[in-house]
Amino acid sequence: MILLVGADGQLGRELSASLGLLGNLSRWTLDNMDLADPNLAEKLKRVEFPKLKAVVNAAADTAVDRAESEEDVAYRVNAEAAGLLAALAERHGAAFIHYSTDYVYDGMKSGPYTEEDEPAPLNAYGRTKLAGDRLVAAACPRHVIFRTSWVFSQTGVCFPRTVYNLAKARESLEMDCTQRGAPTSTELLSAATLLALRGVMGLGPAAWGLYHLVSSGEATWLEFSRRVVSKALELGLELKLKPGAITPRDVPDASRPAARPLNSLLSTGKAEETFGLVLPNWTYYADRFVEGLRYQASLG
Ligand SMILES: NC(=O)c1ccc[n+]([C@@H]2O[C@H](COP(=O)([O-])OP(=O)(O)OC[C@H]3O[C@@H](n4cnc5c(N)ncnc54)[C@H](OP(=O)(O)O)[C@@H]3O)[C@@H](O)[C@H]2O)c1
Repeated sequence: MILLVGADGQLGRELSASLGLLGNLSRWTLDNMDLADPNLAEKLKRVEFPKLKAVVNAAADTAVDRAESEEDVAYRVNAEAAGLLAALAERHGAAFIHYSTDYVYDGMKSGPYTEEDEPAPLNAYGRTKLAGDRLVAAACPRHVIFRTSWVFSQTGVCFPRTVYNLAKARESLEMDCTQRGAPTSTELLSAATLLALRGVMGLGPAAWGLYHLVSSGEATWLEFSRRVVSKALELGLELKLKPGAITPRDVPDASRPAARPLNSLLSTGKAEETFGLVLPNWTYYADRFVEGLRYQASLG
């Protein structure tokens, strides 16, 4: 049996479709397990799952700007609850799969970050996620933590969907060109999670630990938005915005409470080697995302 936590999020919905291949799937959402509940530790102690093979934690408080003023709430979900869920896995002899973020790094490095680089979060969300990584590793040695970046999904409120909606309504748009990262689809994360779970069960301790997991290639938000708009026009979707009318903004948006790292690039060699992954370029998933939009539009 597999327990999926955060099953209604972007990644959780994708995992809901795939994890069942590995065994019976139990799904927890905010409705049936509030991870910010002050009594969470007591509640989890009473949970018994016979034959639990793995706990996959896709839940997180991902409101990056809100965390600046509500770091305690974000800490409860992203750090404390993650550690408690890892302890639940450990108590059952199960593996624990967890997701973390590029925001644990300060973005000052010139090249891609490796798993050995020292984290130095610039914002509260990053601090809470880093604390979660450490609590998970301490509570359940049989863990895999995937640090990823710029996540988007067919069903979520995410960057390419926002761009598409803006492109239907506006003839011009300004987009940040100061940050670099790898847009990463939940499709990639979900498929890699399946392979990692097989690895954790088959390879043993050699597979446990921290991994960077993102698409190959890199982009700025400007390049990502232009790709979405170009592909949508190519597929015949009606937009007011043309790619050339998305202009670069070369200073970070000062109106946002949380600072973001300028360099979010993550080196993925360790995950590729350990789990035998070949990671497609982000443009492949960006184009698939737009194909999904066209399909939805065709339904009316
Ligand atoms: N999104 C990104 O760009 C990004 C980038 C790097 C890493 N990550 C990491 O990737 C993982 C998946 O992210 P995602 O994009 O799928 O996030 P998401 O769409 O925000 O999903 C997170 C899920 O956690 C749930 N949740 C939040 N607070 C909760 C609580 N107190 N109790 C129970 N459930 C709660 C949310 O429920 P509600 O929706 O009902 O609040 C939501 O279903 C996370 O670990 C995240 O930190 C994300």
